[in-house]
Amino acid sequence: GSTLQAAAAESGRYFGTAIAASRLNDGTYSSIANREFNMITAENEMKMDATEPQRGQFNFSSGDQIVSWARQNGKKVRGHALAWHSQQPGWMQNMSGSALRQAMLDHVTQVATHYRGQVYAWDVVNEAFADGSSGARRDSNLQRTGNDWIEAAFRAARAADPNAKLCYNDYNTDNWSHAKTQAVYSMVRDFKSRGVPIDCVGFQAHFNSGNPVPSNYHTTLQNFAALGVDVQITELDIEGSGTSQAQQYQGVVQACLSEARCTGITVWGVRDTDSWRASGTPLLFDGSGNKKAAYTSVLNALNAG
Ligand code: G3I
Repeated sequence: GSTLQAAAAESGRYFGTAIAASRLNDGTYSSIANREFNMITAENEMKMDATEPQRGQFNFSSGDQIVSWARQNGKKVRGHALAWHSQQPGWMQNMSGSALRQAMLDHVTQVATHYRGQVYAWDVVNEAFADGSSGARRDSNLQRTGNDWIEAAFRAARAADPNAKLCYNDYNTDNWSHAKTQAVYSMVRDFKSRGVPIDCVGFQAHFNSGNPVPSNYHTTLQNFAALGVDVQITELDIEGSGTSQAQQYQGVVQACLSEARCTGITVWGVRDTDSWRASGTPLLFDGSGNKKAAYTSVLNALNAG
């Protein structure tokens, strides 16, 4: 294949990007996005604060804009994210207990219902585990409603959109030896054993020098897949430049290709200048829209697989 999406499709996988609705009228941006990618994640537009700015008053205008662009151009959509400790609307941030639990479930139900049939996979719960060596859940207002909040969110999402794949999504879960990875693995194993509806696990894959692409990445993906879930790389970006960056990107692609249930890879933005990282050059295209060495290594790795 001569584009990322075509090369990934040769092994039945997708290649995606995060899209910001506000950039879609930038011609360079939208033409690269249309040419190279066939899975679209809304970078911010489907989050809790964007979609339910006032309790019970939903605003889907920006999210709908992205879904409509994706449909017009024949692309699938990954929904991001139904329940998260961050990017909560102001009214939710100070809620607690059963009122918050119900508000969260209502949110999951309403948003998943609005997009029913239009989303390939939802990040149902995002970033619910703590960093570091504890292996504990992350403290948050949602966690304080009870340890079962995650499974409650998954059940609500399944009821609202039975055909969407339901994913748990997190970062720093790439290295098999990390406590956070093991903790998420234990949760997924428990969910599968008890019939909690989970179909997939997303690995955000935000890498930098302090958190490099692990050499055991394929082990992580294979072990999760062996639990009976699909796995996806959902928010890939790698700080750095040149050959070193290109080699790390190649390693991520090879890890995904080595696991049959790794169904696709999404990078977290189009050009370096579109990245959430204020400085740095973590993506596949430079600020002018030129292909970087990292692009070529990803394309070659996809074609080799
Ligand atoms: O749109 C407003 C604008 O009106 C306002 O003037 C400006 C002032 O701060 O803020 C703008 O909103 C910002 C928004 O991005 C759009 O640019 C928010 O402040 C800013 O917080 C928000 O950052 C996003 C971040 O999630 C929020 O947590 C990033 O774009 C987005 O890339 C990032 O994505 C996350 C994933 O959802 C989850 N995993 C980690 C990943 C990277 O942090």
